[in-house]
Amino acid sequence: MIPARGRLITLEGGEGAGKSTLLAGLLAHLRQRGIDALQTREPGGTALGEAVRGLVLDPSLRGITVQAELLLMFTARAQLVREVLRPALAAGRWVVCDRFTDASYAYQGGGRGLDPALIAQLEAIATDGLRPDLTLLLDLPVERGRERTHVRGDADRIEREDDGFFERVRAVYLARAAAEPRRFRVLDASQPVHAVLTDAIAAIEELRKDAEG
Ligand code: TMP
Repeated sequence: MIPARGRLITLEGGEGAGKSTLLAGLLAHLRQRGIDALQTREPGGTALGEAVRGLVLDPSLRGITVQAELLLMFTARAQLVREVLRPALAAGRWVVCDRFTDASYAYQGGGRGLDPALIAQLEAIATDGLRPDLTLLLDLPVERGRERTHVRGDADRIEREDDGFFERVRAVYLARAAAEPRRFRVLDASQPVHAVLTDAIAAIEELRKDAEG
């Protein structure tokens, strides 16, 4: 018997929006429901992707050009899609991925100012048409996210960007969510963690019912 196709859920948001906490809660929820769910992240999730992550987040590599950064993100993605995502989905597994292509439009397009048409060309090469079934966008005012990342300390290369950069990132995420309301759920990440999780679970339950129906 051919297994039913799995589902791809992605988490997006600015810095300090609480993706990691939410991810753990979502995985626990899916497993409780008997869904075989896999967790991964971008950039990362494969040996190559984790090596790329080390490079793009390394604060000592200040001279990385915006074009090189873009290509690195899509290098990691091309590997993750073929090595992890496609096989898992084909086997009927659900995947929760901490960031995916929307992050490139938000960070390299919005933050760095690169042309989205250029990003779309790389998307076609790297993702082979794979798009998330559901994208949870954790939305938070930039200054609130900053307060949270400051507490953590040790800002990585991208976290060191100024507020204007993160305002542009946020604006692109919100514009993408508005353009694709069926795929996106915008969650108010300034709420307490349990309230954000409740909203996220409601969105996942809709997807689960669709998948069953
Ligand atoms: P994080 O997922 O732990 O927040 O760290 C990943 C960082 O990489 C974050 O600052 C967002 C950034 N990023 C991009 O700039 N473009 C991308 O395509 C992806 C996946 C991440």
